[in-house]
Amino acid sequence: MSRTVYVNGEYVPEEEAKVSVFDRGFLFADGVYEVTSVLEGKIIDFAGHARRLARSLSELEMTTPCTEDELLQIHHELIARNNLEEGLIYLQVTRGVADRDFAYPENAEPTLVLFTQSKQIAVSPKAEEGMKVISIPDERWGRRDIKTVQLLYPSMGKMMAKAAGVDDAWLVEDGFVTEGTSNNAYIVTRAGVIVTRHLSHEILHGITRAAVLKLAAEAQMTVEERPFTIAEAQDAAEAFITSASSFVMPVVEVDGAAVGDGRVGPIARRLREIYLDESRKKAV
Ligand code: PDD
Repeated sequence: MSRTVYVNGEYVPEEEAKVSVFDRGFLFADGVYEVTSVLEGKIIDFAGHARRLARSLSELEMTTPCTEDELLQIHHELIARNNLEEGLIYLQVTRGVADRDFAYPENAEPTLVLFTQSKQIAVSPKAEEGMKVISIPDERWGRRDIKTVQLLYPSMGKMMAKAAGVDDAWLVEDGFVTEGTSNNAYIVTRAGVIVTRHLSHEILHGITRAAVLKLAAEAQMTVEERPFTIAEAQDAAEAFITSASSFVMPVVEVDGAAVGDGRVGPIARRLREIYLDESRKKAV
């Protein structure tokens, strides 16, 4: 069955959902996006995603297409029109349509597109098995804190992982892990300390990351925000990733070496449970 997609103020069947070839999102990857998860027909951490979207737009001097309330209403309307029980909502804002020119146009109207993806995300075999990752050099641009649609290198990274027979790649810069291709990366040291890279321009400020670190602190777990190396990950007790689409997902192998005993560890398992419980409670 065809989905209903939101394009610039209208709800249309997906076959009719179109944007111009002159859209700067198409020509320059001049756009930003958000991916928000839906469980039991409700949105997880809408406020966090709306806040980050506002920041991405502001960093790129892009016009905000609508208010946060209007955005929430569009999310709810799409959930209703598509009977979305579980899955994701993808949102993209571009600078809009203008004749091709590197300089930003003066008065372009932003393009706003949202669509749903129905998907089982809460129950996942990978959460039981754990993921395997390889490391690759981080060759992305320097403002990874802005959630832009320039996703070619992360796509290449996923293909490198696929070719290596594993699930994902961790990106390494100056000897330290930045993050995963589309997620934040963590290790748990043998002393039980959760380590993840500090916030900067080098990584995306994950909405799931913020929620999980808060929950970890509330559960009396120790968190250190600092860079770590692949060798440290291979010597760790546990490893995991976080993102809106995978929540907390354990990592059991890094560059062919088992992490801990090579099975899903108790801290990653616990954090996934707590995160899912709390998110369901607060979903809107
Ligand atoms: N990716 N780092 C990168 C590079 C990401 O692309 C993402 C999200 C994250 C995690 O952020 P959050 O917890 O807010 O989802 C970290 C989304 C899910 C995607 O591109 O599909």
